[in-house]
Amino acid sequence: PEKLDIAVIAGDGIGPEVTAQAQRALQAALPEGVELTLTEYPFGAARYLETGEIISDAELHALAQHDGILLGAVGGDPADERLAGGIIERGLLLKLRFAFDHYINLRPGAISPGVKTPLSDPGEVDFVVVREGTEGPYVGNGGVVRVGTPQEIATEVSVNTAYGVERTVRYAFEKAKSRPRKHLTLVHKKNVLVNAGVLWQRVVDRVSADYPDVAVEYLHVDAATIFFVTNPSRFDVIVTDNLFGDIVTDLAAAITGGIGLAASGNINPDGEFPSMFEPVHGSAPDIAGLGKADPTAAILSVVLLLEHFGLIDAAATLEAACRADLASRGGASRSTSEIGDAIISRLTAQGTNA
Ligand code: NAD
Ligand code: IPM
Ligand code: MN
Repeated sequence: PEKLDIAVIAGDGIGPEVTAQAQRALQAALPEGVELTLTEYPFGAARYLETGEIISDAELHALAQHDGILLGAVGGDPADERLAGGIIERGLLLKLRFAFDHYINLRPGAISPGVKTPLSDPGEVDFVVVREGTEGPYVGNGGVVRVGTPQEIATEVSVNTAYGVERTVRYAFEKAKSRPRKHLTLVHKKNVLVNAGVLWQRVVDRVSADYPDVAVEYLHVDAATIFFVTNPSRFDVIVTDNLFGDIVTDLAAAITGGIGLAASGNINPDGEFPSMFEPVHGSAPDIAGLGKADPTAAILSVVLLLEHFGLIDAAATLEAACRADLASRGGASRSTSEIGDAIISRLTAQGTNA
């Protein structure tokens, strides 16, 4: 592209701290000749508490006009009762994922050389989780009766459509086909969640006929969590539903160097709506304002953004700068901006337009 028009939602807590570094990294990594426009939007818990507004239809429409979205994290103090019930999470983050049909939630996990992991002998770990992003138990299909009584009943009914599952599974097979190991793991719980699980398995079986080079396996999600810890190198591409994907990607982050390194893309592959790139982590109220947040996850999310727009060299250069920084960290503790500076100065050293 000659122009890249990106909306920025820094959000709450450490969101603005890590997003500041991500924006700098984006500016620094872009190849010469690509004109970047960044437009900041003030959405998040802070604005909601001030104005009572989360996001208006007009603002949603304005967001839709951008090429892509860079998001930090949203969600306020969990102790604040005015934010109870996930009002910001559903009203903003999930709203954007649903409105912009981000049916692929792409979450890579690799152990970078030199990175400390809690595993003693992890081997070569390099996988990518393809998490479905617009269905499952996240759709808000359910309710509660007899609230607060001993007879209370609460339901969240997971919605899985053949259409939604198939487009996710096809994306995952394409991803697997493009990777050296060409291996796909379906993660679900089809021994208990038989309706949805059997649909997922049937779709995987059917689509696999179009990908004879891709080897397929199935794991129940509970067993998958064992292998994330005991043998994560067995994974290449993992495809799973919205909730299992949420859970296993925090686990994936923990074993690959921590939540401060885990990047994600909420992708609308058809390009009808802007895709949105964000770290896997949240607003981390426990360390907000202290300059302690690791911006690497946010910067690696910029790598995914660059890849999405076909800026493959810029993406590779920025990723290499992050990996080189990771390799040289040792035990030193640095601030958010010091890590940002270190990664960006590596880009400059590599001769981009930083
Ligand atoms: P969290 O990811 O914010 O924090 C979990 C732990 O990881 C905390 O100890 C935190 O300090 C640490 N951590 C997170 N990011 C870090 C970083 N970059 N560097 C160093 N340490 C980091 O998860 P949580 O505490 O469950 O959620 C806090 C809030 O964020 C909640 O309101 C939640 O709903 C929201 N949330 C938002 C998103 C998002 O915007 N995409 C994602 C997850 C959680
Ligand atoms: C994530 C978060 C969100 C999710 C929450 C904040 C709605 O945990 O991006 O992983 O569950 O998808
Ligand atoms: Mn999560």
